[in-house]
Amino acid sequence: MKNQLNLNLVELAKKLMVTSVFVILCVIANAQTLRLVAKAKGKFIGSAANSAIFYKDPAIAKDYKNILAKEFNMIVAENEMKMGVLLPSEGNYNWSKADALVAFAEKNNMRLRGHTLVWHNQLPKFISNPITPWTRETLLAEMKNHINAVVGRYKGKVKEWDVVNEALNDPPAKGIRMTSIWAKVIGEDFIDSAFVYAHQADPKADLYYNDYNIEYNFNTKTQSLLSLVKRLKQQHIPIHGVGLQSHSNYNLKDSEIANLSKFVDSLAVLGMKVALTEVDLGIPKGAVNDSTLNVQANSYAKLTQLFMNKSAIKSMVFWGFTDAYTWLEERPKPKEQPLLFDKNLIKKQAYYSVYNTIKN
Ligand code: XIL
Repeated sequence: MKNQLNLNLVELAKKLMVTSVFVILCVIANAQTLRLVAKAKGKFIGSAANSAIFYKDPAIAKDYKNILAKEFNMIVAENEMKMGVLLPSEGNYNWSKADALVAFAEKNNMRLRGHTLVWHNQLPKFISNPITPWTRETLLAEMKNHINAVVGRYKGKVKEWDVVNEALNDPPAKGIRMTSIWAKVIGEDFIDSAFVYAHQADPKADLYYNDYNIEYNFNTKTQSLLSLVKRLKQQHIPIHGVGLQSHSNYNLKDSEIANLSKFVDSLAVLGMKVALTEVDLGIPKGAVNDSTLNVQANSYAKLTQLFMNKSAIKSMVFWGFTDAYTWLEERPKPKEQPLLFDKNLIKKQAYYSVYNTIKN
C-alpha cells in the first residue's frame, strides 16, 4: 500500500516536471514574437494579409493564420478593401472577404489599417470605363457613396485609412498624376473631397495619404508630397498622416536611411503621423544566396532602428510576411524573396534582425 502510494507520488512528480517544462517552453516561445516586443515599446508591427490564402489547402491556411496572429499586432488587407474587389459591379458590394479579415483582426486583437479608398488602380470597370462618361459632379457623388459605404461599415473597427493612394506623379515629373480617372474627371481637388468625406463618415479614424518612391531619395515626388500636405493643412482638410510604402531593395544604403530620417522629421514638423505601410526589400531574381540574405537582414535592421528612433512613426507594416506569398512573385518582377519568413514559413535572418532591433 505504502509502496503503491510512493509510486503514485513519483509518477505525479514526473508529470508535474514534464508539464512545467512544457509551460516554460511555451512562455519562452511566446515571448519570442514581434508583436510582444513591439507592444512593450509602444509600437505596432504589422503585415498585409491575403485572404486568398485563408481558403487554400487547410494545412497551409492554418500555419499562415497562426503566424500572422502570433507575430503581428496590426493587419491590413492586401487587396480585399480595394474598390474593384469590394464593388465588382455597380451597386453590388461584396463584403465577404473584407469582413473575414476584419473578424480575424478582432479575434486576434490586431489594429486594422484600411487600404485603400481612392486609387487609380484595381478599379471596377464601371468606374474606369463607364458607359456614360462621368462628370465632375457624378464622379464626386460616386466617390462619396463609396467612402460612406466602406468607412461607415467598418467605423470604429478600421482605426486608420489610406484615403488616397499614389496620386502623385513619378519623378522627374511633379504634381498630381493627371492620368488617374479621379484627377482627370474631378480635378486635383478630388484629394480634398476624399479626406472630407472620409472624416464625415468616421470622425475618429486617422486619415492617411499613402505613396511610394518618396521616402528614400529626395526627388520631385518628395517635393510634391510636402507641397500637397502643406496645402491640405492650410485649407483645413482633415489629413492626419502620411504612409510611406517603403518598398525597396535588399541593400538599403546609409544615405537612403538618412534621407528617410530627414523626410520623416519634415513630415512630423507639419504635424503628420508617419507610417511605414508596405515594407519589403526584394533581392534581384536569381541572386538569393547567404551573402545577399545577410545584407537584406542588415537593411532590415537599419530600417527597424529608424522606426524605433522616431516617435512620429508608430507602425511598421510589411507587405506580407512569407516569401511564399509576395506580390513580387505575382507577375514577372525583377525581384524576389523580400520578406521575413521563407517559402516554408521558417524565420529568415531578416526576421531576427527586426526582432533584435525592436527588443534592444
Ligand atoms: C498589390 C498587391 O500586393 C497585389 O496582390 C495586387 O495584384 C496589386 O496590388 N502599392 C499599393 C498596393 O498600394 O496596394 C499594391 O498591392 C502594391 C503597391
